[in-house]
Amino acid sequence: MSHTAQHTAARLVDRHPAISGAELVATLVPPRQFDGASFDSYRPDEAYPSQAEARDTLRLFAEPEAPIARGGFFGLGRKKPAAEPRPNTVNKPGVYLDGGFGVGKTHLLAATWHATAGRKYFGTFIEYTALVGALGYAGALGVLQGARLICIDEFELDDPGDTMLMTRLIGDLTSTGSRIVATSNTPPNALGEGRFAASDFMREIQAMADRFVTIRIDGVDYRQRDLDGDALSLSEDAYLFTLADVVASGDRMTDDSFDELISHLATVHPSSYIGMLDGVRVIGLRDVHELVDQSAALRFVAFIDRVYDAQIPIRATGLPLTSVFGGGMLDGGYRKKYLRCMSRLNALTQAEGAA
Ligand SMILES: Nc1ncnc2c1ncn2[C@@H]1O[C@H](COP(=O)(O)OP(=O)(O)OP(=O)(O)O)[C@@H](O)[C@H]1O
Ligand SMILES: [Mg+2]
Repeated sequence: MSHTAQHTAARLVDRHPAISGAELVATLVPPRQFDGASFDSYRPDEAYPSQAEARDTLRLFAEPEAPIARGGFFGLGRKKPAAEPRPNTVNKPGVYLDGGFGVGKTHLLAATWHATAGRKYFGTFIEYTALVGALGYAGALGVLQGARLICIDEFELDDPGDTMLMTRLIGDLTSTGSRIVATSNTPPNALGEGRFAASDFMREIQAMADRFVTIRIDGVDYRQRDLDGDALSLSEDAYLFTLADVVASGDRMTDDSFDELISHLATVHPSSYIGMLDGVRVIGLRDVHELVDQSAALRFVAFIDRVYDAQIPIRATGLPLTSVFGGGMLDGGYRKKYLRCMSRLNALTQAEGAA
């Protein structure tokens, strides 16, 4: 038969994408999973008033001219005359959403993006730093400058280079009229803590923080509401069965040893990880084991972030993927990053897939 290729699973380690600056600019839109994200489809948890508050503040920030909803944030429960001036809740060029995992920060960020007219960009922190890497500072500024809205998801300062770059970029963009919404698991004044000598950059970080109104969102992880605590791990037989099933159905499932994938991730720039996922419907990882090297673990986190954005289910054997961050890593400066990744891994291994 001429269908041999169809029965051979692809391998992630055979993919060596390198994304160009122009391609990066083209990806500066919300991930497809958030195409339908709006303020109306956000369901604030009444147990955490900060959720409704964040939504209402961002709604005003996105649509400063829109009519005030009855019984909304200003909650008087009666209709206001349309001519009454709107309260100006955000008197700064930026809003910074700080909150736990899966409380809907990216959802609200995408909702803000969809509700804003004009030229706008949406990317993760890593994508913006990659843009500067690809185009140079002036080149990246040239692309972004003049935009009405710039959304930065997963804002983190990992090292002095990032810090100098992003504090400068945000200064230059806000002083030329762009508005910025950022999300993070860390409040602005604690950025970089435990990771590098962030105190040496207090002046830059403080100047940047001053451009934002910070909103803290509390809540329970939306993804975990229907999930069990551990990521699913399959027996060898169940894994091979899934692989055969997906491949026979004509969908693309990749099949890699965890170890080889981890080594491979060191050879591809994190901003290009997204290119490894082209056309992939299910990801298979064999023999998952604990990671003890911090850099390897952080690269894996960056990879999983892209897998999560693309909503590609994972099937794995070996250690449950929620247990890979070992060697005391969960107690270090990147704790929240790992916890968020575990929440995502849990959801991805339990997600319905092509098989
Ligand atoms: N209050 C909510 N109402 C409706 N959908 C929600 C709500 N909170 C989260 N979701 C949905 O749950 C999923 C996870 O939310 P989202 O990715 O926005 O969380 P997050 O705070 O950005 O998490 P992370 O810290 O992992 O980045 C998304 O599909 C999102 O649309
Ligand atoms: Mg998010």
